[in-house]
Amino acid sequence: MAALDFTKRPRRLRVNAGVRELARETRVSEKSLIYPLFITEGSGVRNEIGSMPGQYHYSADTVGEAVASCLDAGADKFLLFGLPEHKDETGSGAWADDGAVQNVLRTLRRDFPAALLISDACLCEYTSHGHCGVVENGKINNDKTLELLTKTAVSHARAGADIIAPSDMMDFRVGAIRAGLDGAGFEDALILSYAVKYASGFYGPFREAAKSAPAFGDRRTYQMDYHNVREALREAASDEAEGADMLMVKPTMSYLDVLAGVRAQTNLPLAAYSVSGEYAMIKTAAAAGLIDEYAVMCETAIGVYRAGADMLISYYAPELARAIRKGDIG
Ligand code: PBG
Repeated sequence: MAALDFTKRPRRLRVNAGVRELARETRVSEKSLIYPLFITEGSGVRNEIGSMPGQYHYSADTVGEAVASCLDAGADKFLLFGLPEHKDETGSGAWADDGAVQNVLRTLRRDFPAALLISDACLCEYTSHGHCGVVENGKINNDKTLELLTKTAVSHARAGADIIAPSDMMDFRVGAIRAGLDGAGFEDALILSYAVKYASGFYGPFREAAKSAPAFGDRRTYQMDYHNVREALREAASDEAEGADMLMVKPTMSYLDVLAGVRAQTNLPLAAYSVSGEYAMIKTAAAAGLIDEYAVMCETAIGVYRAGADMLISYYAPELARAIRKGDIG
Protein backbone atom coordinates (compact mmCIF):
# COMPACT_ATOMS: atom_id res chain seq x y z
CA MET A 1 0.00 0.00 0.00
CA ALA A 2 1.31 3.43 -0.93
CA ALA A 3 2.31 5.65 1.95
CA LEU A 4 -0.52 7.92 3.01
CA ASP A 5 0.02 11.50 1.96
CA PHE A 6 -1.99 13.86 4.15
CA THR A 7 -0.38 17.00 2.85
CA LYS A 8 -2.90 17.58 0.06
CA ARG A 9 -6.03 17.23 2.16
CA PRO A 10 -6.48 20.84 3.27
CA ARG A 11 -6.26 21.94 -0.35
CA ARG A 12 -8.89 19.55 -1.66
CA LEU A 13 -11.65 22.13 -1.28
CA ARG A 14 -9.81 24.42 -3.67
CA VAL A 15 -9.33 21.84 -6.40
CA ASN A 16 -11.49 23.57 -9.02
CA ALA A 17 -13.83 26.51 -9.44
CA GLY A 18 -17.00 24.48 -8.81
CA VAL A 19 -15.71 23.05 -5.55
CA ARG A 20 -14.52 26.48 -4.46
CA GLU A 21 -18.01 27.79 -5.08
CA LEU A 22 -19.56 25.09 -2.91
CA ALA A 23 -17.03 25.63 -0.15
CA ARG A 24 -17.39 29.38 -0.08
CA GLU A 25 -18.23 30.67 3.40
CA THR A 26 -19.10 34.28 2.66
CA ARG A 27 -21.86 35.07 0.19
CA VAL A 28 -22.66 38.62 -0.72
CA SER A 29 -25.35 40.29 -2.75
CA GLU A 30 -25.48 43.65 -4.44
CA LYS A 31 -28.72 44.10 -2.48
CA SER A 32 -26.67 44.57 0.68
CA LEU A 33 -24.72 47.56 -0.65
CA ILE A 34 -25.35 51.19 0.29
CA TYR A 35 -23.94 54.07 -1.73
CA PRO A 36 -23.24 57.44 -0.03
CA LEU A 37 -24.05 60.63 -1.94
CA PHE A 38 -23.15 64.24 -1.15
CA ILE A 39 -25.90 66.71 -1.95
CA THR A 40 -25.41 70.47 -2.12
CA GLU A 41 -27.98 73.23 -2.28
CA GLY A 42 -28.58 75.06 -5.56
CA SER A 43 -28.85 73.52 -9.00
CA GLY A 44 -26.72 72.20 -11.83
CA VAL A 45 -23.92 71.04 -9.51
CA ARG A 46 -21.74 68.09 -10.51
CA ASN A 47 -18.27 68.67 -9.10
CA GLU A 48 -15.72 65.97 -8.46
CA ILE A 49 -14.59 65.94 -4.82
CA GLY A 50 -10.84 66.59 -4.73
CA SER A 51 -10.17 64.34 -1.75
CA MET A 52 -12.32 61.51 -3.14
CA PRO A 53 -11.57 60.90 -6.83
CA GLY A 54 -14.58 59.45 -8.63
CA GLN A 55 -17.10 60.88 -6.09
CA TYR A 56 -19.09 64.04 -6.75
CA HIS A 57 -21.02 66.83 -5.15
CA TYR A 58 -24.46 66.83 -6.72
CA SER A 59 -27.47 69.08 -6.32
CA ALA A 60 -30.98 67.64 -6.03
CA ASP A 61 -31.56 68.21 -9.77
CA THR A 62 -28.37 66.46 -10.99
CA VAL A 63 -28.07 63.49 -8.63
CA GLY A 64 -30.61 61.44 -10.57
CA GLU A 65 -27.92 60.53 -13.08
CA ALA A 66 -25.72 58.97 -10.37
CA VAL A 67 -28.69 57.20 -8.82
CA ALA A 68 -29.82 55.81 -12.18
CA SER A 69 -26.38 54.45 -13.00
CA CYS A 70 -26.05 52.90 -9.54
CA LEU A 71 -29.48 51.26 -9.91
CA ASP A 72 -28.37 49.99 -13.28
CA ALA A 73 -25.38 48.32 -11.66
CA GLY A 74 -27.74 46.64 -9.19
CA ALA A 75 -27.18 48.75 -6.06
CA ASP A 76 -30.41 50.39 -4.99
CA LYS A 77 -29.76 51.78 -1.52
CA PHE A 78 -28.42 55.25 -0.84
CA LEU A 79 -27.06 57.18 2.14
CA LEU A 80 -27.59 60.91 1.74
CA PHE A 81 -25.41 63.68 3.16
CA GLY A 82 -26.40 67.33 2.85
CA LEU A 83 -24.02 70.22 2.43
CA PRO A 84 -25.64 73.58 3.20
CA GLU A 85 -24.51 76.87 1.70
CA HIS A 86 -24.72 78.61 5.06
CA LYS A 87 -23.60 77.16 8.35
CA ASP A 88 -24.46 78.59 11.75
CA GLU A 89 -23.77 78.02 15.44
CA THR A 90 -26.58 75.49 16.00
CA GLY A 91 -26.62 73.88 12.56
CA SER A 92 -30.17 75.00 11.81
CA GLY A 93 -29.84 73.95 8.15
CA ALA A 94 -29.99 70.35 9.34
CA TRP A 95 -33.74 70.48 10.01
CA ALA A 96 -34.73 73.04 7.35
CA ASP A 97 -37.65 71.65 5.37
CA ASP A 98 -36.10 73.03 2.18
CA GLY A 99 -32.57 71.85 3.06
CA ALA A 100 -30.38 69.90 0.65
CA VAL A 101 -31.17 66.48 2.11
CA GLN A 102 -34.88 67.19 2.46
CA ASN A 103 -35.06 68.37 -1.16
CA VAL A 104 -33.18 65.39 -2.52
CA LEU A 105 -35.27 62.97 -0.47
CA ARG A 106 -38.45 64.34 -2.05
CA THR A 107 -36.94 64.32 -5.54
CA LEU A 108 -35.59 60.77 -5.33
CA ARG A 109 -38.73 59.45 -3.66
CA ARG A 110 -40.70 60.76 -6.67
CA ASP A 111 -38.26 59.80 -9.45
CA PHE A 112 -36.93 56.50 -8.09
CA PRO A 113 -39.67 54.84 -6.04
CA ALA A 114 -37.69 51.59 -5.96
CA ALA A 115 -34.66 53.14 -4.28
CA LEU A 116 -34.19 52.79 -0.53
CA LEU A 117 -33.28 56.13 1.00
CA ILE A 118 -31.21 56.49 4.15
CA SER A 119 -30.42 59.94 5.49
CA ASP A 120 -27.42 60.78 7.66
CA ALA A 121 -28.59 62.83 10.62
CA CYS A 122 -25.83 64.91 12.17
CA LEU A 123 -25.10 68.57 12.79
CA CYS A 124 -21.41 68.79 11.86
CA GLU A 125 -22.03 69.52 8.18
CA TYR A 126 -24.32 72.38 9.28
CA THR A 127 -22.52 73.99 12.22
CA SER A 128 -20.08 76.87 11.76
CA HIS A 129 -17.71 75.22 14.29
CA GLY A 130 -17.92 71.80 12.60
CA HIS A 131 -18.84 69.87 15.75
CA CYS A 132 -21.64 67.31 15.82
CA GLY A 133 -23.47 69.01 18.69
CA VAL A 134 -24.35 72.23 20.47
CA VAL A 135 -21.19 73.94 21.74
CA GLU A 136 -21.28 75.80 25.07
CA ASN A 137 -18.13 77.20 26.66
CA GLY A 138 -16.00 75.09 24.36
CA LYS A 139 -17.81 71.86 25.28
CA ILE A 140 -20.49 69.79 23.57
CA ASN A 141 -23.84 69.89 25.39
CA ASN A 142 -25.14 66.37 24.88
CA ASP A 143 -28.74 66.85 25.95
CA LYS A 144 -29.35 70.09 24.09
CA THR A 145 -28.04 68.35 20.97
CA LEU A 146 -30.65 65.59 21.30
CA GLU A 147 -33.47 68.02 20.65
CA LEU A 148 -31.86 69.31 17.43
CA LEU A 149 -31.05 65.83 16.19
CA THR A 150 -34.62 64.76 16.81
CA LYS A 151 -35.96 67.72 14.81
CA THR A 152 -33.53 66.79 12.04
CA ALA A 153 -34.61 63.15 12.01
CA VAL A 154 -38.31 64.10 11.91
CA SER A 155 -37.73 66.50 9.01
CA HIS A 156 -35.94 63.71 7.11
CA ALA A 157 -38.80 61.30 7.74
CA ARG A 158 -41.29 63.93 6.61
CA ALA A 159 -39.33 64.37 3.37
CA GLY A 160 -39.44 60.65 2.69
CA ALA A 161 -36.45 58.92 4.31
CA ASP A 162 -36.98 55.20 4.85
CA ILE A 163 -34.19 55.01 7.40
CA ILE A 164 -32.55 57.70 9.54
CA ALA A 165 -28.89 57.18 10.39
CA PRO A 166 -27.73 59.34 13.32
CA SER A 167 -23.93 59.72 13.14
CA ASP A 168 -23.28 62.16 15.98
CA MET A 169 -22.44 59.75 18.84
CA MET A 170 -24.32 61.71 21.51
CA ASP A 171 -25.58 59.60 24.42
CA PHE A 172 -29.27 58.58 24.33
CA ARG A 173 -29.88 59.97 20.87
CA VAL A 174 -31.42 56.77 19.55
CA GLY A 175 -34.08 56.82 22.27
CA ALA A 176 -34.72 60.53 21.75
CA ILE A 177 -35.02 60.19 17.97
CA ARG A 178 -37.26 57.12 18.28
CA ALA A 179 -39.63 59.00 20.59
CA GLY A 180 -39.59 62.02 18.26
CA LEU A 181 -40.34 59.94 15.16
CA ASP A 182 -43.14 58.04 16.88
CA GLY A 183 -44.60 61.25 18.29
CA ALA A 184 -44.70 62.78 14.81
CA GLY A 185 -46.42 59.73 13.34
CA PHE A 186 -43.37 58.18 11.67
CA GLU A 187 -43.48 54.83 13.45
CA ASP A 188 -42.34 53.11 10.25
CA ALA A 189 -39.18 55.17 9.81
CA LEU A 190 -36.26 53.00 10.92
CA ILE A 191 -33.13 53.97 12.80
CA LEU A 192 -29.76 52.71 11.59
CA SER A 193 -27.54 53.80 14.42
CA TYR A 194 -23.90 54.68 13.96
CA ALA A 195 -23.58 52.75 17.23
CA VAL A 196 -19.85 52.24 17.16
CA LYS A 197 -18.08 55.14 15.55
CA TYR A 198 -14.45 55.65 16.38
CA ALA A 199 -12.63 58.98 16.49
CA SER A 200 -10.71 58.14 13.35
CA GLY A 201 -8.15 59.68 11.05
CA PHE A 202 -9.89 57.86 8.21
CA TYR A 203 -12.63 60.54 7.97
CA GLY A 204 -10.20 63.15 6.59
CA PRO A 205 -11.34 63.14 2.95
CA PHE A 206 -15.03 63.28 4.02
CA ARG A 207 -14.41 66.33 6.17
CA GLU A 208 -12.84 68.05 3.20
CA ALA A 209 -15.85 67.04 1.09
CA ALA A 210 -18.32 68.27 3.76
CA LYS A 211 -16.17 71.16 4.99
CA SER A 212 -16.94 69.76 8.43
CA ALA A 213 -13.54 69.54 10.12
CA PRO A 214 -13.95 70.84 13.69
CA ALA A 215 -12.80 74.46 13.97
CA PHE A 216 -11.33 73.75 17.40
CA GLY A 217 -10.45 70.58 19.30
CA ASP A 218 -11.47 67.20 17.93
CA ARG A 219 -14.29 64.69 18.24
CA ARG A 220 -12.75 62.54 20.95
CA THR A 221 -15.23 63.62 23.64
CA TYR A 222 -18.04 61.92 21.72
CA GLN A 223 -16.54 59.51 19.19
CA MET A 224 -14.86 56.36 20.47
CA ASP A 225 -11.29 55.74 21.55
CA TYR A 226 -9.67 53.21 19.22
CA HIS A 227 -7.96 51.44 22.10
CA ASN A 228 -11.34 50.07 23.20
CA VAL A 229 -13.51 47.22 22.09
CA ARG A 230 -15.58 46.35 25.18
CA GLU A 231 -16.81 49.92 25.15
CA ALA A 232 -18.01 49.30 21.59
CA LEU A 233 -20.11 46.42 22.83
CA ARG A 234 -21.65 48.68 25.49
CA GLU A 235 -22.42 51.34 22.87
CA ALA A 236 -24.05 48.73 20.65
CA ALA A 237 -26.08 47.30 23.56
CA SER A 238 -27.37 50.68 24.68
CA ASP A 239 -28.40 51.72 21.18
CA GLU A 240 -30.20 48.41 20.82
CA ALA A 241 -31.98 48.94 24.14
CA GLU A 242 -33.00 52.45 23.06
CA GLY A 243 -34.71 51.06 19.99
CA ALA A 244 -32.21 51.03 17.13
CA ASP A 245 -33.39 48.84 14.25
CA MET A 246 -29.94 48.31 12.80
CA LEU A 247 -26.43 48.95 14.09
CA MET A 248 -23.28 50.17 12.39
CA VAL A 249 -19.56 49.87 13.00
CA LYS A 250 -17.28 52.43 11.41
CA PRO A 251 -14.62 52.51 9.94
CA THR A 252 -13.84 48.96 8.71
CA MET A 253 -10.21 48.09 7.98
CA SER A 254 -8.76 48.73 11.45
CA TYR A 255 -11.95 47.58 13.20
CA LEU A 256 -12.77 44.10 11.92
CA ASP A 257 -12.38 42.69 15.44
CA VAL A 258 -14.99 45.18 16.63
CA LEU A 259 -17.34 44.15 13.86
CA ALA A 260 -16.92 40.49 14.77
CA GLY A 261 -17.51 41.31 18.44
CA VAL A 262 -20.69 43.27 17.79
CA ARG A 263 -21.86 40.50 15.44
CA ALA A 264 -21.48 37.95 18.23
CA GLN A 265 -23.45 40.13 20.63
CA THR A 266 -26.44 41.33 18.60
CA ASN A 267 -29.16 39.81 16.51
CA LEU A 268 -29.91 43.12 14.82
CA PRO A 269 -28.87 43.66 11.20
CA LEU A 270 -25.32 44.97 11.22
CA ALA A 271 -23.82 47.51 8.83
CA ALA A 272 -20.20 48.47 8.29
CA TYR A 273 -19.08 51.78 6.80
CA SER A 274 -15.94 51.69 4.69
CA VAL A 275 -15.14 55.37 5.04
CA SER A 276 -13.63 58.08 2.88
CA GLY A 277 -10.03 57.52 4.00
CA GLU A 278 -10.22 53.82 3.23
CA TYR A 279 -11.54 54.62 -0.24
CA ALA A 280 -8.95 57.35 -0.80
CA MET A 281 -6.09 55.07 0.23
CA ILE A 282 -7.07 52.44 -2.31
CA LYS A 283 -7.60 55.08 -5.00
CA THR A 284 -4.26 56.81 -4.48
CA ALA A 285 -2.21 53.64 -4.07
CA ALA A 286 -3.76 52.35 -7.30
CA ALA A 287 -3.16 55.65 -9.10
CA ALA A 288 0.49 55.39 -8.06
CA GLY A 289 0.61 51.94 -9.64
CA LEU A 290 1.23 50.24 -6.30
CA ILE A 291 -1.85 48.04 -6.07
CA ASP A 292 -4.57 46.70 -8.34
CA GLU A 293 -7.63 48.81 -7.44
CA TYR A 294 -10.23 46.25 -8.49
CA ALA A 295 -8.56 43.39 -6.63
CA VAL A 296 -8.13 45.38 -3.43
CA MET A 297 -11.66 46.80 -3.63
CA CYS A 298 -13.03 43.25 -3.81
CA GLU A 299 -10.78 41.85 -1.09
CA THR A 300 -11.45 44.63 1.42
CA ALA A 301 -15.20 44.44 0.87
CA ILE A 302 -15.34 40.68 1.40
CA GLY A 303 -13.24 41.04 4.56
CA VAL A 304 -15.95 43.21 6.04
CA TYR A 305 -18.69 40.67 5.30
CA ARG A 306 -16.51 37.82 6.55
CA ALA A 307 -16.10 39.67 9.87
CA GLY A 308 -19.88 39.68 10.26
CA ALA A 309 -21.44 42.62 8.44
CA ASP A 310 -24.81 42.09 6.79
CA MET A 311 -24.50 45.24 4.73
CA LEU A 312 -21.74 47.51 3.52
CA ILE A 313 -21.74 51.25 3.04
CA SER A 314 -19.08 51.96 0.43
CA TYR A 315 -18.06 54.60 -2.08
CA TYR A 316 -17.35 51.60 -4.32
CA ALA A 317 -20.97 50.36 -4.11
CA PRO A 318 -21.71 50.57 -7.87
CA GLU A 319 -18.38 48.94 -8.79
CA LEU A 320 -18.87 46.24 -6.15
CA ALA A 321 -22.36 45.56 -7.48
CA ARG A 322 -20.87 45.05 -10.94
CA ALA A 323 -18.14 42.77 -9.53
CA ILE A 324 -20.81 40.67 -7.81
CA ARG A 325 -22.93 40.47 -10.96
CA LYS A 326 -19.87 39.42 -12.96
CA GLY A 327 -19.21 36.68 -10.45
CA ASP A 328 -15.76 37.93 -9.42
CA ILE A 329 -16.97 38.06 -5.84
CA GLY A 330 -20.12 36.84 -4.16
C1 PBG B 1 -20.84 63.05 10.29
C2 PBG B 1 -20.19 61.95 9.53
C3 PBG B 1 -18.84 61.76 9.25
C4 PBG B 1 -18.76 60.63 8.44
C5 PBG B 1 -20.05 60.15 8.29
N1 PBG B 1 -20.92 60.96 9.00
C6 PBG B 1 -17.66 62.59 9.57
C7 PBG B 1 -17.14 62.70 10.93
O1 PBG B 1 -17.66 62.13 11.90
O2 PBG B 1 -16.19 63.45 11.05
C8 PBG B 1 -17.51 60.09 7.83
C9 PBG B 1 -17.71 59.32 6.57
C10 PBG B 1 -16.48 59.08 5.77
O3 PBG B 1 -15.35 59.43 6.17
O4 PBG B 1 -16.63 58.49 4.69
N2 PBG B 1 -20.68 63.04 11.65
